[in-house]
Amino acid sequence: MATESSRTPHGIALVTGATSGIGAEFARQLAKQSYDLVLVARDRPRLETVAAQLREHTHVAVEVIAADLTDAAQRDVVERRLKSEADPITFLVNNAGYGLPQEFSLNSADDEARMLEILATVPLRLSHAVLGGMLSRGTGTVLTVASLAGEAPLGTYAAAKAWAMNFSRWANAHYRSRGVTFTALAPGFVRTEFHSRLGVARASMAPKWMWLDANFVVRSALRSAAHGRAVSIPSVRYRLLWMFMKLAQPLIAVFVARTSRRTATVADKRHDS
Ligand SMILES: NC(=O)c1ccc[n+]([C@@H]2O[C@H](COP(=O)([O-])OP(=O)(O)OC[C@H]3O[C@@H](n4cnc5c(N)ncnc54)[C@H](OP(=O)(O)O)[C@@H]3O)[C@@H](O)[C@H]2O)c1
Repeated sequence: MATESSRTPHGIALVTGATSGIGAEFARQLAKQSYDLVLVARDRPRLETVAAQLREHTHVAVEVIAADLTDAAQRDVVERRLKSEADPITFLVNNAGYGLPQEFSLNSADDEARMLEILATVPLRLSHAVLGGMLSRGTGTVLTVASLAGEAPLGTYAAAKAWAMNFSRWANAHYRSRGVTFTALAPGFVRTEFHSRLGVARASMAPKWMWLDANFVVRSALRSAAHGRAVSIPSVRYRLLWMFMKLAQPLIAVFVARTSRRTATVADKRHDS
């Protein structure tokens, strides 16, 4: 850990889900901006590898906390780190998350509740843990990785991401005048491990033009956060899509109803034969 005298001017950023994809990229870009880091994820060997690479290529101090954030006792270690006044966290990135491969009725209620916890309850608890110190110091940034899906009725993953979008919009309006900004990052499809963890091939999910690189997404998000924006939507093509989604909101529900009826009919026929 860096000593007070060696502490970089930006302070310390805590990034959840820092072992891969968007989280690992946040760690790299924040290190380049001279933030010291606290990296959180479940896989300790992988965390140590990411930390070693960052120490080798930058001059920042890197701590790791191996924790499953859906486990209350393990999450408590992270919450306590966020409340530390001796080594205060100045930038929180709520990034850890995953989706479920099946739709609501086919998943167990426990799996659904765990996904809702990692996508909504965990950012709520971590934001709450860090906020008191940030408000008393009159400065701080909380960036939560949501999703463009959170702006549409597209399943329980999208519903959980809607929480992050609206929480960030409200919190940014409410706390910004006291020096603490909240930003929701709302990306579309990003090339990470997210889809392989779901067991789904990228090509089957979306056409090539819809895929973004984590590097670009994170650069764009950090710019939005630096400007104190409540929402960051990387790339012009996704900003246009977002405007279309807003206009077509009622049509999305009709589209979902139609495709669900078709899927149900095919499933019924398979069941009957
Ligand atoms: N990729 C996309 O297209 C996309 C689009 C919109 C939004 N997002 C969001 O972006 C965020 C990052 O996902 P990604 O695309 O970068 O996927 P990823 O490469 O699979 O990374 C997910 C990260 O979350 C960590 N994680 C998962 N469950 C955890 C838990 N219970 N406790 C602690 N850490 C946990 C994983 O580390 P360990 O396995 O080591 O714990 C990993 O570091 C997620 O919130 C996701 O919903 C992704």
